[in-house]
Amino acid sequence: MTTLGIETSCDETALALLQTRGSGETFEYRIIQSLVHSQANLHSAYGGVFPTLAKREHGKNILPLLDKLLLEAQPYFKEKRYAKDYKKTLDLFEKELSEQNPDLWQSILGADFLVNIPRIDQIAVTQGPGLEPALWVGISLGRFLSTLWNIPLIAVDHMEGHIIGSLIDEDKPYGVWQYLKGVTYPAIALLISGGHTELVEINSLGDYKIIGQTRDDAVGEAFDKVARLLGLPYPGGPHLSRLAEEARQQNILSPIKLPRPMIDRDNHDFSFSGLKTAVLYAIKKAEKSGKYDNVFRAGLALEFENAVTDTLSAKSAEAIEKIQAKTLIMGGGVSANHSLRRRFTDISAEYGIPLYMPSFHLSGDNALMIALVGALNNAPTDSRNIQAQGTKKLGKNLLL
Ligand code: KG4
Ligand code: ZN
Repeated sequence: MTTLGIETSCDETALALLQTRGSGETFEYRIIQSLVHSQANLHSAYGGVFPTLAKREHGKNILPLLDKLLLEAQPYFKEKRYAKDYKKTLDLFEKELSEQNPDLWQSILGADFLVNIPRIDQIAVTQGPGLEPALWVGISLGRFLSTLWNIPLIAVDHMEGHIIGSLIDEDKPYGVWQYLKGVTYPAIALLISGGHTELVEINSLGDYKIIGQTRDDAVGEAFDKVARLLGLPYPGGPHLSRLAEEARQQNILSPIKLPRPMIDRDNHDFSFSGLKTAVLYAIKKAEKSGKYDNVFRAGLALEFENAVTDTLSAKSAEAIEKIQAKTLIMGGGVSANHSLRRRFTDISAEYGIPLYMPSFHLSGDNALMIALVGALNNAPTDSRNIQAQGTKKLGKNLLL
């Protein structure tokens, strides 16, 4: 079974091809190709992702990326058929796409390679959560291709993608069959990205319950906002983290003590906006008294990262105890953070349970995780009428 994954929920245009076989314990996959085209540099001028710009860029870039993906996957697609309904499919989509998504439509019109049908069995596309104008690009392309190639389209939850993406064993090279990391249930997943901070109880693959979430800013958003206050470029998370690591290595002490928000509260929720405000006041005060220099900045970055690490780890440890979790999962863009990875490694040792995290290059948004969720879905409903869901929430999904 070959699945094409499409991901356009934020500022990465991503496509992947994945082959799978078996089910349950014998489920195996091999990665054929996974490509990500980041728009981060374009959005940095705005200090955040600008939705209509993201939509336009996805529309322009996704067909050239698909062309590249299929070319690179050619050894897997020797026999191809000719799409005899090419013209008919263009006619069917013309009105809708030329009005709602002109950039995508223009690229589709120039994409002659689409008439050759590769041996792809199904398409998995991110339905949400994410930026709706951006999500629509992937969904529209998915609908067009599933009609043209006459294969099913499966709607995938982006956050489920981050969970399953953490189970990919990246040590094996592309093209080699492998198993997913084995999860013992119940499992707890901490999902941390630019738009989300969630603790998810997982009782079986596909059965998710959000038991804690942020009441204001997501943790990645907090990293990005604080990085901006410290004069670092967008997306600021990795820059801030590097500055904090420098401070750690040079034993720079934090100039102030920041709060550990919600740490003593009797629930699993998070709040990060107060932390950002505390950083802002600390900077203003230091500027007034002439103490705001590079050492102060580095110390503050370290204290911020420590405050976030303390909060996320304390809340996750409580959740492990509450549900008696047997596996700990961390996923989402912020899971690339070294301080968090070290702390979560300690937690997993303390509780004697395995910790699964995505490899660095799969921690950010990618389409491999989306293809994988689609492939695990054993009852693919043909979702050619799917709508983007910007605020989609994890719940019970139909998996293996
Ligand atoms: O999952 P993701 O790629 O996109 C969303 O779905 O949001 O996450 C992006 C977020 C950004 O806020 C970025 O600053 C943050 O992940 N991030 C980091 C690190 N690498 C990426 N935050 C802290 N430390 C890092 N090393
Ligand atoms: Zn994400």
